[in-house]
Amino acid sequence: MIELNQRERGKPVIELRDLRRTLGEGETANEVLKGLNLTIRQGEFCSIVGPSGSGKSTLMYLLGALDRPSGGQVLIDGHDTRGMHDLELAELRNRTLGFIFQFHYLMPEFSALENVMMPMFKRGIRRADAIERATDLLSRLGIGDKTHRPPGKLSGGEQQRVAIARALANQPLVVLGDEPTGNLDTSNADNVFAIFEKLVKEEHQTIVVVTHDLDLAARTERIIRLVDGLVVDDGPTADVMERMRAAIGTHE
Ligand SMILES: Nc1ncnc2c1ncn2[C@@H]1O[C@H](COP(=O)(O)OP(=O)(O)O)[C@@H](O)[C@H]1O
Ligand SMILES: [Mg+2]
Repeated sequence: MIELNQRERGKPVIELRDLRRTLGEGETANEVLKGLNLTIRQGEFCSIVGPSGSGKSTLMYLLGALDRPSGGQVLIDGHDTRGMHDLELAELRNRTLGFIFQFHYLMPEFSALENVMMPMFKRGIRRADAIERATDLLSRLGIGDKTHRPPGKLSGGEQQRVAIARALANQPLVVLGDEPTGNLDTSNADNVFAIFEKLVKEEHQTIVVVTHDLDLAARTERIIRLVDGLVVDDGPTADVMERMRAAIGTHE
């Protein structure tokens, strides 16, 4: 199977420049993101943490070109998304990004295998190749014996693994997860992170994941901390954790 996206470690894959996003209008207008500068590089395993309402989901939508900024720039794989038409954005997303959300949004009327094949169809990959890759991904995620079941006949943890396989289908440059374990018990959340760690280690997969669970964030390599629409800390996980610990009990 052809390598769809080149993996060049350290290369910027998503860049945000003075990113701003205002939601709502008039009296309810709310500047949710207030000027963010961030570079996500190939091979990084990042978590985004911060209090509820700090703008994490808004940021993820913009990182994934699912939403448009009110100001500033989003560059994905070097492409400035400003001025792109919806179709161009959709094509860029499908080619470069994989999404995993808290609720998996699998299509209930299709099998696990077909759900994973769907993004490959959108890219025009041949059916036989799509079946082979989807089968391989589901096997690697430990559900190779359940590929023909619809999501409704899988457990919550299994459904989230199908969603991960789907996110990986087109060998995305970046996997984006917004609370991908938010709906799972500790053991299944642990499994999902074990899968992420393996992908990062063995395939240099770039992963950016929002989590409110600091034990899970501690397993990533870089923590980006948001408070009230601004990045207040960003660095190697151990350093950010240390600064967060120091802050607890003082002013937080
Ligand atoms: N349509 C909207 N109009 C105004 N404010 C909004 C709208 N949607 C979300 N918000 C606000 O944006 C802020 C950030 O939301 P969100 O990005 O979902 O935060 P998080 O994911 O960190 O919990 C919240 O304060 C939320 O109330
Ligand atoms: Mg959120």
